[in-house]
Amino acid sequence: MTPAPPTRRILSGVQPSGKLHLGNYFGAVKQHIALQDEGLCFYFIADYHALTTIQDPALLRDNTRDVALDYLALGLDPDKAIFFRQSDVPEVTELAWILSTVTNMGLLERAVSYKEKIDKGIEASVGLFAYPVLMAADILIYRSHLVPVGKDQVQHIEMTQDMAGKFNRAFAEVFPIPNFRLDKESKVPGTDGQKMSKSYGNTIEIFAEGKPLQKTVMSIKTDSTPLGSPLEPGTCNVFALYSLFASDAEKADLATKYRSGAIGYGEAKKLLLDKIDAHFGPARERRKQLAQNASVVEDMMRKGAQRARAEAHQTMTLVREAVGMKPRSVG
Ligand code: TRP
Repeated sequence: MTPAPPTRRILSGVQPSGKLHLGNYFGAVKQHIALQDEGLCFYFIADYHALTTIQDPALLRDNTRDVALDYLALGLDPDKAIFFRQSDVPEVTELAWILSTVTNMGLLERAVSYKEKIDKGIEASVGLFAYPVLMAADILIYRSHLVPVGKDQVQHIEMTQDMAGKFNRAFAEVFPIPNFRLDKESKVPGTDGQKMSKSYGNTIEIFAEGKPLQKTVMSIKTDSTPLGSPLEPGTCNVFALYSLFASDAEKADLATKYRSGAIGYGEAKKLLLDKIDAHFGPARERRKQLAQNASVVEDMMRKGAQRARAEAHQTMTLVREAVGMKPRSVG
């Protein structure tokens, strides 16, 4: 019998940056949850990374807890995926240091996301500059094969490949060279028609409901075609959002109504609202229950961290040996 191939390891990190919106969901979270059945998944809340932009302990704590609740409510199964807080595995900062010694300054200086953050006015700290090194450590410490990310993170994965290769050549073949997988590029327009993004203030939050959600959906920008006239689905934000939830038959049906003038924007928005409510209703209930059970959630996160830490420890034993250090016993 040939031995089973090693289980594919899939890893991704999520910044604890506030309330999840439809853009996050269709761009990343949905894929993360689907991947649980395609390999051994490591998903973590990147709180060390968040420190490069959040210097407010209450905010960091709240955001971190929110992401945990969001993912668990949306179907992340902690028995399948290893789900944890980055800072519960402090070994990752040790690996980041070691990797920084095989990382060229020039490589980091070319990082687009660093330049963009500086341009936005974020302070140019050493941590912000070394952000990609910590990210490489995240990926390599679990010896990950596949990293599902958005386009903006691809350069960071390429840097990780560079660091892994350099380390392997300088010391020993410890790290598999990871690949990225681009998260499905769903077109998720915000309420103003631009790409949905927190920085544009045009988001529809997943866990909003009732009046506030209704208000947001009703505020989606449309053109001023009068009621009764034909509407063009191809350029309509409401239609684009509806399409994310609807079956092909439902989409075709709504498109027909648009083109025949049988529906106005107000009614289309109501249909969208119904879809959002139906799709996220169960997750909202789960989230409320989880929010009342802080200790259950804490337990899940702690168990995730234990599993992650055992993996990290194995890698660090190899890394420390490779560079000429003694293995470290864990306390
Ligand atoms: N930088 C990523 C982002 O902003 C978050 C992240 C941190 C990450 N470490 C990671 C993503 C490791 C993938 C792998 O979205």
